[in-house]
Amino acid sequence: MIQRPRGTRDFGPAEMAKRRKVEQAMRDVCHRFGFGEVVTPTFEHSELFTLRSGQGIIDEMYVFKDKGDREMALRPEITASVIRFYVTDMSTSPKPLKLYYVGNCFRYENPQSGRYREFFQLGAELIGTKTPETDAEVIALAVNCIRDAGLENFVVRVGHIGILKSLVREQIKDEQTAAEVLRKIDKEDWDALGDMFDAKVLPRQLFDKITSIADIKGGVEELNNLEDSESTRHLKEIFEVLKLYGIDDAQVDLGIVRGLDYYSGMVFEIDAPRLGAEKQVLGGGSYTLSELFGGEPVFSTGFAIGIDRVVLASEAEREIQVEPPLDAYVIPAKDDMRKYAFGIVARLRSQGLNADVDLMRRTMSKNLKYASSVGARFAVIVGKDEMAKRSVTLRDMKTGKQELVLADEVGSAIAGSHG
Ligand code: HAM
Repeated sequence: MIQRPRGTRDFGPAEMAKRRKVEQAMRDVCHRFGFGEVVTPTFEHSELFTLRSGQGIIDEMYVFKDKGDREMALRPEITASVIRFYVTDMSTSPKPLKLYYVGNCFRYENPQSGRYREFFQLGAELIGTKTPETDAEVIALAVNCIRDAGLENFVVRVGHIGILKSLVREQIKDEQTAAEVLRKIDKEDWDALGDMFDAKVLPRQLFDKITSIADIKGGVEELNNLEDSESTRHLKEIFEVLKLYGIDDAQVDLGIVRGLDYYSGMVFEIDAPRLGAEKQVLGGGSYTLSELFGGEPVFSTGFAIGIDRVVLASEAEREIQVEPPLDAYVIPAKDDMRKYAFGIVARLRSQGLNADVDLMRRTMSKNLKYASSVGARFAVIVGKDEMAKRSVTLRDMKTGKQELVLADEVGSAIAGSHG
């Protein structure tokens, strides 16, 4: 038997109905915020990601040579692709550009619950400005997506990577060491970071300063503990706009560094604490990438949501309710009524109802059992009497209540019973 590759999943119809419901709710929010959908390729030249995504991502990439000996990568994320698309085809479009996407991403990670080698993201990129209100708009979009996906327990943390990045880059001239320090801050691996300072003879005072900044977490008033700077003022303005958008429980967290290297300004994350180790359902921030891909520098802010984790977190709160997959299951009582049954099912389908019909020539009782096991709302039974009266017997599968309905009216009877 051929097994599925490690870290990948198959999704059956019941699971997909829940996933689509969550995804659709978030897509609707994107449209409400004026974002339009884009789709980019699943694989790209690997250079697109190696240029700026950071060592963490590069180590996890699926890279392969194609038949023309070009080095390709399965996308580990979608931001770089969207900015490549922008540089080649959309750079003259009116700004700001508001784009969103849904797609699968690939990272060679150690699989566990909430961490997969193929996973799904819904993300958004707002291209063309770097005002605080732009950052607030993107955070508001993210919060509304998570809320409308049905999640109630989540924490929004907002920071500014410029503060730690400029400190580290100023003090540590060796780029690789600086990147390593930032990575350790992102992972909150303070012991390993401390060891680095001891081993590399980096100044201990810098370590203390880093930890004191990374420790600034809590309500917006925490920003008053920071020296006045452009970054601090920018963050304060973001929180003011968030309040106007009705988001007043976002937290300050200056320890957010993010695993990807391209961020330069505001950074934010959303956690669903119920998920434990893999609790981060969303990450994002502001960055510039276009100049690396041959375009003019342009500021952007974006985020990506881990759809798999949002589904897991919602299910941990309460079961995701989906519509029954079938409105009607048509059962001919005997072989002579089969043709009549096909006419009925065709009509129900043409009226926009989800309808199915017995294809296995089962007995009535087996058919009723089947209708119940597939979650049909109604069984539509056609027997001799029904046929003679150009009617059907409509059986509500939940209550067991039956009534004779004219064939002409069965569609509207089922549609009308929805609410
Ligand atoms: P990221 O933080 O690497 O950011 O990924 C975003 C989200 O994808 C994570 O918060 C997590 O929920 C989900 N995720 C990541 N890796 C996995 C995995 N192995 N299994 C399941 N879920 C996973 C980005 O990808 C950036 N492109 C976000 C962004 C957009 N920044 C600016 N624009």
